[in-house]
Amino acid sequence: MTDMILFGVFPYVAVALMVGVGIYRYCVDRYSWSSQSSQFLESRVLFWGSVPWHYAILIILLAHFLAFLVPSGWGVVLGNPLRLYILEVTGLALGISTLIAVTLLIFRRSLNARVSAVTSAVDWLVLAALLLQVATGVYIAFTLRWGSVWYLHTASPWLWSLLKLDPQVHYLAALPTVVKLHAFNAFFIVALFPFSRLVHVVSVPLTYLARPYQVVVWYRERRAG
Ligand code: HEM
Repeated sequence: MTDMILFGVFPYVAVALMVGVGIYRYCVDRYSWSSQSSQFLESRVLFWGSVPWHYAILIILLAHFLAFLVPSGWGVVLGNPLRLYILEVTGLALGISTLIAVTLLIFRRSLNARVSAVTSAVDWLVLAALLLQVATGVYIAFTLRWGSVWYLHTASPWLWSLLKLDPQVHYLAALPTVVKLHAFNAFFIVALFPFSRLVHVVSVPLTYLARPYQVVVWYRERRAG
């Protein structure tokens, strides 16, 4: 019953919150739909925390996503021991980078008074959830070999069952608590998304890539003729 609530019901609650509250916030308070940069308050530690964090977590999430989306293809890639080692070692290195980076970002917010002053309770909750997520991920990768392989037969079908609106929580039932914590916390982060700075994930200003680097807006009324 607990598994059903945590892994069969909560993921839908989290996604509903993300979409519903996200759209509401965008409509009523569009200016807050950003990461509210604190770069002008402190930039050196931010650089060493934020840049590795974003590169590493994006690659890790891409690997999670591909293994979920095309488990058979991913299985073929992992079928060769050399490729399996390379992918696992790369994943572990990236995982450790995210762990160091998020720890730096937490220290920055705690130790720098100016940054700490603009840090809300939700910011702390997001940072704690991210730290827990990457710490459990690295722990799993270290202690429960070979995560990338058993993910294909447990996490992937569970996630597909959620997508088909037919949650099959038995795929997770026999897994160790740390894996369940990792899976639950992933959806907790999804639930936090619309209440926090995480919304910046879907507000990347891609139009900036194509627009002129300088836009001059002329306010004075043009004279007739
Ligand atoms: C917010 C979403 C998620 C984040 C940020 C995240 C993050 C991470 C990180 C940083 C690692 C360590 C990478 C490595 O050392 O290989 C990892 C590993 C892992 N994650 Fe996640 N994860 C997320 C969602 C999930 C979900 C939903 C599952 C499904 C149960 C999952 C299952 C795993 C497994 C099995 C591993 C071990 C992979 C291996 O041994 O190579 N993750 N995750």
